[in-house]
Amino acid sequence: MSGLSVKHLLGIKHLTTEDIELIFQTADTFKDVINRPIKKVPSLRDITIANLFFENSTRTKLSFELAEKRLSADVINFSASASSVKKGETLVDTVNNILSMKVDMVVMRHPDAGAGEFLSRHVNAIIVNAGDGAHEHPTQALLDAFSIREKLGSVRGKKVAIIGDILHSRVALSNIFALHKLGAEVMVCGPATLIPKHIRSLNVHVTHDLRSALEWCDVANMLRIQLERQDVQYFPTLREYAQNFGLTGRMLRELDKELIIMHPGPINRGVEITSDVADSPNAIILDQVQNGVAIRMAVLYLLAGRVE
Ligand code: CP
Repeated sequence: MSGLSVKHLLGIKHLTTEDIELIFQTADTFKDVINRPIKKVPSLRDITIANLFFENSTRTKLSFELAEKRLSADVINFSASASSVKKGETLVDTVNNILSMKVDMVVMRHPDAGAGEFLSRHVNAIIVNAGDGAHEHPTQALLDAFSIREKLGSVRGKKVAIIGDILHSRVALSNIFALHKLGAEVMVCGPATLIPKHIRSLNVHVTHDLRSALEWCDVANMLRIQLERQDVQYFPTLREYAQNFGLTGRMLRELDKELIIMHPGPINRGVEITSDVADSPNAIILDQVQNGVAIRMAVLYLLAGRVE
């Protein structure tokens, strides 16, 4: 296979298993590159990329920017809080103004589900979704699955529990799609109020008991409670949530197995995960961040082949 089957990266649901495997093989090469003394390659020397962030980000924004610079692309950064969006400009007008400066690719995070897909239909550039509302966060799922593959040799046949605020999580949805395409089994775990009823139609196991999820899985992906997306109260207090769904060092010791702990960040220490777990040898949270740069280099490199 010579390239990706898609022109844009809008969601994992649009990718084939072969696409994901091609991204992983390309990321393997780029991971070697970024561990060399000279970490740059000239692959995207003629490409200009705009990073448009309409929502806060630390990891994704820095990771994309670093990936672009490692590939020698020209990069411009835009953040909604400091832009004319505040003066009433529409998304399409904003992006078309940026594109008129001869931009080839747009990496966009937006609070609305479907924003990337909308943009791909209205502007002439390659769009990479860096998180759209509670819908998808495809590069996060790719780096998560790549990190499991790195740690366990393969994703196929592994059992992955996604634990926490599933209802508001774009990471959960993209992970479910990616893990299934790669042959893993998925369980979701959290309070009943934070697990959408339709989730069973995605062929996942569901539990509201943290201990049984941890006993079942090889990998536990602990998600943050997304208070900023919660319009009503879904559980009585954060303390009660932590008591029922927070992963502690004591629990980990009692399980007495080689459980891998993941977290997409940002972490709320003491809520979904205690500090001793976050900093334990079981946790691969910083490996995920490091792999994010290689994965994003791979995605940008493969999509840049589609620039007209
Ligand atoms: N994992 C993730 O998307 O983190 P940021 O919100 O900091 O980009």
